[in-house]
Amino acid sequence: YYVENFDTVFAVKSVLDELERQMGTRFDSAYITGDFGDAWFTMTAKNTVWNGEHKITDGDIQSQLSSICPPDGFHPMHIIPLRYDTPTARNMLTPIGHIDRQLISAFGAICYSDARMNEIYNILRRAHITSNGFFDPTFVLNASIRKQNETVMFIDMGAASITCAIWNDRGPVWHNKIMHGGTDITNDVADKLKIDFDSAEQIKRRVASLIPSQMDRFTPADTAYGFSRADVNEIVSAHIVNMIGELKDTVIGAFEKYKPNKIVLTGGGAHADGVCDFIENTFGITAETLPNDAALRGLADYIWDLNAARRAAYIARSERAARRMQRISKLFQRKPKQKKQFIPIMPSTLCFDMSADTTYSLFAAGNISMVHVDIMDGFYVDQIAGSINELRYIREHTNAHLHVHLMTESPAVWAADAVAAGADTVIVSTNTSGVRAALRVIHAAGKRAGIALHPDSSVTILKPILREIDEVMVMAVVPGAAGQSFNPDALHKIAILAATRKKYGLKFKISVDGGINENTAQMCWNMGADFLVSGSYLAHASDFPLAVQSMLHHE
Ligand code: DX5
Ligand code: ZN
Repeated sequence: YYVENFDTVFAVKSVLDELERQMGTRFDSAYITGDFGDAWFTMTAKNTVWNGEHKITDGDIQSQLSSICPPDGFHPMHIIPLRYDTPTARNMLTPIGHIDRQLISAFGAICYSDARMNEIYNILRRAHITSNGFFDPTFVLNASIRKQNETVMFIDMGAASITCAIWNDRGPVWHNKIMHGGTDITNDVADKLKIDFDSAEQIKRRVASLIPSQMDRFTPADTAYGFSRADVNEIVSAHIVNMIGELKDTVIGAFEKYKPNKIVLTGGGAHADGVCDFIENTFGITAETLPNDAALRGLADYIWDLNAARRAAYIARSERAARRMQRISKLFQRKPKQKKQFIPIMPSTLCFDMSADTTYSLFAAGNISMVHVDIMDGFYVDQIAGSINELRYIREHTNAHLHVHLMTESPAVWAADAVAAGADTVIVSTNTSGVRAALRVIHAAGKRAGIALHPDSSVTILKPILREIDEVMVMAVVPGAAGQSFNPDALHKIAILAATRKKYGLKFKISVDGGINENTAQMCWNMGADFLVSGSYLAHASDFPLAVQSMLHHE
């Protein structure tokens, strides 16, 4: 990027601003390089804070430029940003290497001597910047311009010399310098036409041409002087013709040996009218002139390509990190799991094969969250069914709330075993001895304790302990067998319990066990039941989940 303007501050500022814009960053210093003779100039932001905000202002440029006194005829050429902040990218790999602490080093320098290179190294080192490498401009051009199998002759027409190199796939196979350059021409123009160097340089640039039709003896080269374009051209073209002649003499052996298929021209001299054609004719192969910034662009491209693998790795790494972050933030954003519908229906184990995996799948399909485990001891009821072992097995196979129905004598002993085997609620039966002890055992284990009210018993017998229990289970059948029909007396008991609970502000839940189907279920709900147990109705259902749903309270 370049700006041509007589207001140097404006030009420098515009270049800096544009570079900052392109790189999306801020420079805190810059180097002005090029035709200053022996000097390089550093430009810095006046208020530079380490790791803070840096910005080179108009004022910085103004004051620092005024201290630059280039020798006559030398003009600024390049501005190389030395340091710039990259606030958004810590620890990243860039085309110029690894950057840390939000600081990135110079992106390019073109130099011609070891001394200058060492000087740059030292400057960079002082700024704690490691350079990635230094490249000869021809090396850079070769890398960006020459295609495979091509042999290219590079001719750089500089101020002090003409550099020529031939490159093929093997690298630079020939290289030479003619110590003759644009400055010699300007000096000669100034000498012969008796004008100062600056004017000579300006007039040379404006007028010089190798095209004969433009060499008009009647057109003044500059109205301020008495000489014509032809006078200037005579001097300039003689030099160029000599230089190219000298070049040809020097290169001819290599030229014939390596047979380049094209010439690439760079440097100020290459831009004079007709020079490219003249060289093309001299060597008999195509020549092309590259723009002024070709070497800089080549350098940028070269370094960028050089780091393609690292860049790709960096991008892959940051994408992986982004994906990881996304996953993590998703975890935090995850909506609270939709609460599974609570089903207050408990299938009774008496009617299911609790050793079969299919039973557990069936319960899961029906969204069952509580399982009623019937245990009969053959004393309290005639039958022996269920056992602590079975309870343990069930515990190992489901996370459901295990609602254990003890139809046993000695409820305290059984309760202790049930709790140890994984019961969540233990229901003991009325008309057994040791009910209170059993309740204590259950509560001591931190489990829910309830009482099953025998169909022959009235609610009033529960009055003394209603405050101490978590649940009253109203038996709607005589305990001991599944498949009996629902005793409607149960409905009345549920109603009384619900009313008592309300009246005294008690907390116990009301459940009903025996003879529950889709119809009796609705009656129980309506009376104030909280949970219902179902054996045969659910076990015989052709569609278990549907049967479960049919038992829910339909208002
Ligand atoms: C009866 C059991 C009940 C019985 C329920 O002694 O306590 O749990 O299995 O079965 P159904 O619903 O068929 O009456
Ligand atoms: Zn039961």
